[in-house]
Amino acid sequence: MSKEKVQIFDTTLRDGEQVPGCKLDAEQKLVIAERLDDLGVDIIEAGFPISSPGDFKSVTQIAELVKNATVCGLTRAVRKDIEVAAEALKPAKRARIHTGIGTSDSHIKFKFNSNREAIIERAIDAVSYAKTFVEDVEFYAEDAGRTDNEFLARVCEAVVKAGATVLNIPDTTGYCLPEEYGAKIKYLKENVTGIHKAVLSCHCHNDLGLATANSIAGVINGARQIECTINGIGERAGNTSLEEVVMILRQHPSLGLDTNINSKLLFDTSQMVSQKMGMMVQPNKAIVGANAFAHSSGIHQDGVIKNRETYEIIDPADVGVNESSIVLTARSGRAALAYRAKLVGFELTKLQLDEVYQEFLKFADKNKEISDQDIPKIIESSKITL
Ligand code: KIV
Ligand code: ZN
Repeated sequence: MSKEKVQIFDTTLRDGEQVPGCKLDAEQKLVIAERLDDLGVDIIEAGFPISSPGDFKSVTQIAELVKNATVCGLTRAVRKDIEVAAEALKPAKRARIHTGIGTSDSHIKFKFNSNREAIIERAIDAVSYAKTFVEDVEFYAEDAGRTDNEFLARVCEAVVKAGATVLNIPDTTGYCLPEEYGAKIKYLKENVTGIHKAVLSCHCHNDLGLATANSIAGVINGARQIECTINGIGERAGNTSLEEVVMILRQHPSLGLDTNINSKLLFDTSQMVSQKMGMMVQPNKAIVGANAFAHSSGIHQDGVIKNRETYEIIDPADVGVNESSIVLTARSGRAALAYRAKLVGFELTKLQLDEVYQEFLKFADKNKEISDQDIPKIIESSKITL
């Protein structure tokens, strides 16, 4: 069955880089941008050009370097921002300006001290002005997650008419429930005149741990772009994690959706971003965490040794991890011990294994994890004859 493509818009270098204390230098940004291009992301959001001379320069350097992906720069709905972004993006083979404004009542009142009609006018002006520089203009309705659907639809209709090619519906504060976010996308699909001229995009934050679930709900309901970051890094609790949405779509072919991502580069890319940002990946992180393919309880280990699929839904090789690991702890059984002993050169008979296992349990109760170097010592202290 041929699958519909969901565009992957990576914002590691813009929203991701907003992580406190994790600033990347220009060289690091270039290395990451090149890797994102190799990974197969469709759009790289390279930065916010007006925010600083350094960011402007980085966006330009990335625009010069990237061969395949569209390169995108963020702006506010401010003409000067748009001019500066257009200038920074000049060398790009494919350039996109990402402009927008807050649309929720709290943004309109507290950030802009404005009203709904004036916000629509500013949105139209920003998109029309951006269109004078580039063909591809994405509009974001900041805090769309807390914007009422009827007003959001009016804003979307106005900017599509002004030429927006992509409509970004951010859950800026990570507030929505998946049903609610999915229903919002569905409502826009059904109620915005001219919506067929634009791609709806999900941009979800993880304040309640729902960024991935919300993005998937979005594409199930008709969005065809997901904005995400490597390892889910980003402001506060972060953004939607690229590796998670890519593998969810791949592991659920019945959704009929896929991406252009080369999943075999996911683990390595995760490590690269983690090292360059000085931000460790939590061990239990889905897909790319150190424990994502590690099995430590006896029942699970026995199952995985018999057949990997008993406790793994993803082949680790598909995300660039060499193999699943069988971790020896006090919860491990004989099957795991025999398996790991064999890997370090000891093929034990059933009787030998029974003896060594008793020694192993004593050792394991005193130590969190047993390494390959510990195995010969445990065998020796069991006093079996080999
Ligand atoms: O979270 C958000 O609303 C954003 C926009 C600037 C796109 O990052
Ligand atoms: Zn964001």
